[in-house]
Amino acid sequence: MTTPIHVLGFSGSLRKASYNAALLRAAAELLPEKMSLEIFDLSPIPLYNNDIEVAGVPEAVQNFKARIKAAEALLIVTPEYNYSIPGVLKNAIDWASRPPRESPLSGKPLAMMGASGGASGTMRAQMHLRQVCVFTNMLPLNKPEVYVTKAAEKFDAEGRLTDEATRQRIRELLTALRDWTRKLRGEANEF
Ligand SMILES: Cc1cc2nc3c(=O)[nH]c(=O)nc-3n(C[C@H](O)[C@H](O)[C@H](O)COP(=O)(O)O)c2cc1C
Repeated sequence: MTTPIHVLGFSGSLRKASYNAALLRAAAELLPEKMSLEIFDLSPIPLYNNDIEVAGVPEAVQNFKARIKAAEALLIVTPEYNYSIPGVLKNAIDWASRPPRESPLSGKPLAMMGASGGASGTMRAQMHLRQVCVFTNMLPLNKPEVYVTKAAEKFDAEGRLTDEATRQRIRELLTALRDWTRKLRGEANEF
């Protein structure tokens, strides 16, 4: 008998009509059995400043860290900015990683995906995110890789993911994250 897996998901784009935020909302519709997804908005996280940290970790950051701690796995949805991840996402990870001995990121299973308007589908940003996983000791799933290319063709005007092949790919990613999390827990997979 396996227990459900609670996932915390966040998007590296803050804009209202973000394709990446829409991709994260689509994931919430495509969850396999025994998995739940909580979406966290990174907007309230201030810019990292060690002076602020020393004076007292801001409430928004404390809340973010608590939600990461409460989750068994993470789902990060990232745009690609200048061949890397956006500062918004890196900043949030930087806050969460502090202090390293108490980082809730350490040992956390992680799946990633991303959408871009062009043909790369955030491939280069995701490779950078994998590099960030090394020192933070997050445990990213290697496969499947989900690169959503030409995003404008895959969402409708309301931001709903309409491309069936992409929806299927997300189902596969979430199922693989569930199995990866169970494997790290030392549980055999039922499926
Ligand atoms: C500062 C900046 C840099 C960007 N750099 C890239 C890039 O390197 N590669 C790419 O495919 N798209 C790039 N784009 C385009 C984004 O992929 C596109 O704006 C995308 O829709 C952003 O994600 P969102 O819809 O979730 O906000 C860049 C956009 C911005 C604002």
